Amino acid sequence: MEIVICKTKEEASKLAAAVITAQVKKNPKTVLGLATGSTPVLMYTEMAKAVKAKKVSYKQVKSWNLDEYYGLPGTHDQSYRYFMNENLFKKIDIKLANTHVLNGLAKDPEKECKAYEAQIKKAGGIDIQVLGIGSDGHIAFNEPGTSLSSRTSVVYLTPSTIKDNARLFFKGKEKEVPTRALSMGVGTICEAKKIILLAFGKGKADAIKGCVEGGISQFCTASALQLHNDAWIFCDEEAASKLTLKKYYAWRSATKLGL
Ligand code: F6R
Repeated sequence: MEIVICKTKEEASKLAAAVITAQVKKNPKTVLGLATGSTPVLMYTEMAKAVKAKKVSYKQVKSWNLDEYYGLPGTHDQSYRYFMNENLFKKIDIKLANTHVLNGLAKDPEKECKAYEAQIKKAGGIDIQVLGIGSDGHIAFNEPGTSLSSRTSVVYLTPSTIKDNARLFFKGKEKEVPTRALSMGVGTICEAKKIILLAFGKGKADAIKGCVEGGISQFCTASALQLHNDAWIFCDEEAASKLTLKKYYAWRSATKLGL
């Protein structure tokens, strides 16, 4: 695991976007795994800037998103399909037909999840998977207590995630937040060839501590990334503040990136 510690989230987002831009330039048919939430928004803005500046094109890129709320249509302003269209897909030249988000209204959600996995496999697997991290250490919607080898399935949100996410729903009300979601599993995520996890702010410091320096445990599903051999964490100083070896990680990753 490499931990890139930047002064600001803006700096970290630029670096992470540069990794994706370089990958898409190298392989225009890159398969991306994408995340929603407030964390990757700045990175998506940077990716869009590179497209606008004609440095890169996403015309042949395919994408699969991590998760979707169960029960929300893609037109709902809090659905993850809506989020992706607004925050990234409309701003880059990707073909909408090449973007995939789990269908929150699927009649048979487990069948939908199995088909989603099959699609990813058919596309050759995910080249770069973007992740955020929940304050309870979740990746995608894999809450504490989820098997580290879980596959894409219907999952149940913890009260803490419902509380965290309520800010985005009607009048910030927790009862507006769906209690279930369709989510890529931890095992599915770990099959990506490269992983980029973003984390900003002191609210993520405990989660990053658990992810990087805690034991590998289903109590912090992000800790499964310790077993991945190309996982990169781009964070700001606040999110990294509880790491025992933060100075060492910062020096090592900066050296590897030539910063
Ligand atoms: C979103 C997702 C979640 C978020 C996490 C952090 O697709 O899978 O795991 O990455 O809940 O959310 P933010 O970035 O809003 O703090």
